[in-house]
Amino acid sequence: MEGRWLIVLLGPPGVGKGTQGQRLARELGWHYVATGDLLREAIQKGTPLGQRAKSFMERGDLVPDEIMTGLISEALRSVNRPVILLDGFPRTVAQATALDRLAEREGWRVWGAVLLTAEEEELIDRLSGRRICPRCGAIYNLRTQPPREDEKCDRCKSPLVQRGDDRPWVVRKRLAVYRDETRPVVQFYRRRDALWEVDANADPDRVYERLKGQLGVVIRCQKGRESLQGRSF
Ligand code: AP5
Ligand code: MG
Repeated sequence: MEGRWLIVLLGPPGVGKGTQGQRLARELGWHYVATGDLLREAIQKGTPLGQRAKSFMERGDLVPDEIMTGLISEALRSVNRPVILLDGFPRTVAQATALDRLAEREGWRVWGAVLLTAEEEELIDRLSGRRICPRCGAIYNLRTQPPREDEKCDRCKSPLVQRGDDRPWVVRKRLAVYRDETRPVVQFYRRRDALWEVDANADPDRVYERLKGQLGVVIRCQKGRESLQGRSF
């Protein structure tokens, strides 16, 4: 595959970015970077980054742009696979602009963004039943994707937990922050004709097939059947 490409996974809280992103990366051999996961890990370890990010996340606010661009810059430097799938970054227009700059500096090209969509009621319902594995990051849902054993991770058997920011009032705040700060990022990619939409209001397997359909050109290119050259923005 010619060049190194960045793909952005966009969408509101609870739409399934983590569920789909983890599977795409596992099955296609892509590198997956989820900024929310990096921040939660930093909080768990009590690092300076975690200490700075904690109160923002607990309130459902965005962590300041300069902290996030530093984090992504580091991530771009350390990867040697042909595709990085970014989940949760960029989330503001300032971050999207910074991503272009950082990508160029580190030898990556931004392919574009895939936007997952679902109704707000459905998102609230999904988040209220979400459980995650604090050790390996696997994502479950008590209603739609329950673990095989009662509240234990199928992969590593750790007891599952509920995310602190999945409490109802924080969820409402996160949805409002998405509307105000991240929707303009959707426009940012749409304006440069680099936005693909996927209706995520279906079961996870169907959403996965739809996503793979939209990402077909990247997948075929990875298999050497097409070229992505000329698709730089
Ligand atoms: P982050 O962790 O990125 O959270 P988010 O964007 O709010 O998204 P979620 O992780 O809640 O949802 P998801 O779309 O991944 O859904 P999932 O697959 O889990 O960010 C958290 C916080 O970190 C932010 O609020 C902010 O403070 C900070 N932060 C992170 N990045 C930042 C940045 N760039 N700038 C500033 N701050 C930043 O699925 C949800 C549930 O639904 C699960 O239970 C799942 O099993 C279920 N489910 C999934 N798909 C389906 C389906 N098709 N049908 C039914 N159920 C489904
Ligand atoms: Mg997520």
